[in-house]
Order: sequence, then C-alpha cells, then structure tokens
Amino acid sequence: MLTGRMAAQPLPADVIRDANTRYHDDAAAHYDAKWGIDYGEIGRTQVVGKLAKALGGDVPRFGRALEIGAGTGYFSLNLLQAGVIEEAVATDISPGMLETLQANARTLGLEVETVACDAEALPFEDASFDLVFGHAVLHHIPDLGRAFREIRRVLRPGGTFAFAGEPSRLGDRLAQVPKRGATLLAPLWRAALRARPARDPGRHGDADPELGEIVDVHAFTPDELARHARDAGLDAVRVRGEELLANWFGWTNRTLEATAEPDDVPMAWCRYAFHGYLLFQALDRRLLEGRLPAAVFYNLMIAGRRAA
Ligand SMILES: C[S@@+](CC[C@H](N)C(=O)[O-])C[C@H]1O[C@@H](n2cnc3c(N)ncnc32)[C@H](O)[C@@H]1O
Repeated sequence: MLTGRMAAQPLPADVIRDANTRYHDDAAAHYDAKWGIDYGEIGRTQVVGKLAKALGGDVPRFGRALEIGAGTGYFSLNLLQAGVIEEAVATDISPGMLETLQANARTLGLEVETVACDAEALPFEDASFDLVFGHAVLHHIPDLGRAFREIRRVLRPGGTFAFAGEPSRLGDRLAQVPKRGATLLAPLWRAALRARPARDPGRHGDADPELGEIVDVHAFTPDELARHARDAGLDAVRVRGEELLANWFGWTNRTLEATAEPDDVPMAWCRYAFHGYLLFQALDRRLLEGRLPAAVFYNLMIAGRRAA
C-alpha cells in the first residue's frame, strides 16, 4: 500500500518521521473509507489469510502481541476478533491514527492498549511479546536496522515476527503500467460515469499530498528485506510475495477514482471494484503465488522468529 512516490533524494530521517506523523494524523479520519478497510467477516478473512501466508501455513494462537504502525487497527482489531491474539498493544508514530483505532475498538467492543512511538525506539521491556507484527509499515521507516533490532529485543525467545504489505521494487515498477494506463483512460471513464473531475486530485482525506510524496522511503527486493531481519539476529527468516493481478486491477481503479469528485463515483462501481479485487486476489493465490518468484509480486511479506 504505497501512499505516494518515493522521494528522489534521501531526506534526513527526522524529516521523514515528522512527515509520516503529520501526513497520517491528517489522513486518519478518512483512512478506513479510502482503503476499504473492513472489520467484519471479510476483514478478518483477509488479515488472517495474510498472516497465514507470511507464516507459511497455519496460524497458531498468540498471547501478548505488539503491532508496529498499527494505523486505524486493520490488523490488530481483526486478529483480536478472530481470536488469533489474546492481547494487543498497538503502536504508531501518528497519535491521530491511534485515536481512530481506539474509536474503532470501542465500536467493536474490543480492548487495545495504544502507544504513540517510533518503531526505531520501542518503549517496552525486553522479551515482552509473543508476536510482533505489522502491515504496510516497514517501507516508511528510515532506519530499518534499528527497527528490526528493536523487534528482536522486545520478542521473547522463541517469539514470532510477521510483516505483510511491503512494496517490492519490481512489483512497484510494474504497477506503474496500470497507473499510467488509467491516467490516460480517466477522461473517458469519467465521461462514461458522468463524474466531474476531482477538485483536489491526489488528496488523501485531509492529508497534504506534498507530504505524501515523502512518507514512503523503501521498496524492497526480497533479499534486501530478509537481510535487514537476519542482520538484526532474527532466525528462520522467509520472504514471500503476494498479489500481482489484484494489484494491477486495484491500482487501475484507484487511479481512475482519484481523478473524479468522490461523490460522483457510483456505488455500483465501488462494488465492482471491491468484488473484482477479491476475485483477482483468489486468482493470484491459486495460479501465481508459490509459482512465480516473490520479487514480481506487488506485496512482500516477511516472517521469522527470535531463537529460543
Ligand atoms: C500505510 S499505513 C498502514 C497502517 C495499518 N498498518 C494498515 O495496514 O492499515 C502506515 C502506518 O505506519 C505508521 N508509521 C510511519 N512511520 C512510522 C514509524 N517510524 N514508526 C511507527 N509507525 C510509523 C504511519 O503513521 C501509518 O499509520
């Protein structure tokens, strides 16, 4: 889930952290609607399915779990509801995202501890979690070596880590094809739907698009991603890839939608986009994942453990 283009020049780490905090604070209120985040049966199935893929098989039950970059709670709240984790501590650099997470938790009747902090400096004791996980967060973190050392430190010996939704470098490049195609097609698409051009294209909720251009700092090859974890002393590290056709389909639709006034995009289109995405996801799972190398997929997932 890339929210903007990667900056051409590396920026100082503090600038990136500050941009992430402000950008996501501003995006928080509209984040779930923008990304179609669901806390029902579909959301639970998606999240547990991603964790199963990252772990390479069945999902056991975990006790105390820590989420890094938890956002509005997509992973933590769905894993709690599915009974995969008993206790969740959700962290994020953006206090605004955590406020939305707490509001979502109240609606669902769930209890979650939230702590605003940077993934590179976790305010938790050594060996205090059975599982450390995250979704679409590693590519925002300036110093991944420090973040993985923190992940290892807070994991109990034998504990598991798993991250999904990280952009692969090749997958990201391939995704430019549907994005460019959709940009060319957009005027025809809007005319067909009788949708007005967006007054403020590229706006992410109330978030500043200029900040959106600098919040993403990495796209990975599978080897690079694995190296960050291994160098931090983590074991049994595996990187897998998921979603190719689903992402092409998703980026085409999101690029088209971003060019129109949101109120003019008909509900029937949204349903088509959502169910089409699920269909292509199933095709990816059955036909492509496990057959093609991880690098060609749009999303990378990494998992492993701290040695016992
Ligand atoms: C793309 S969002 C993903 C949110 C959520 N995990 C999800 O899948 O919906 C990335 C999240 O990472 C957080 N983030 C960015 N940099 C971070 C850092 N250095 N430490 C902790 N969280 C960070 C952002 O504030 C944001 O909530």
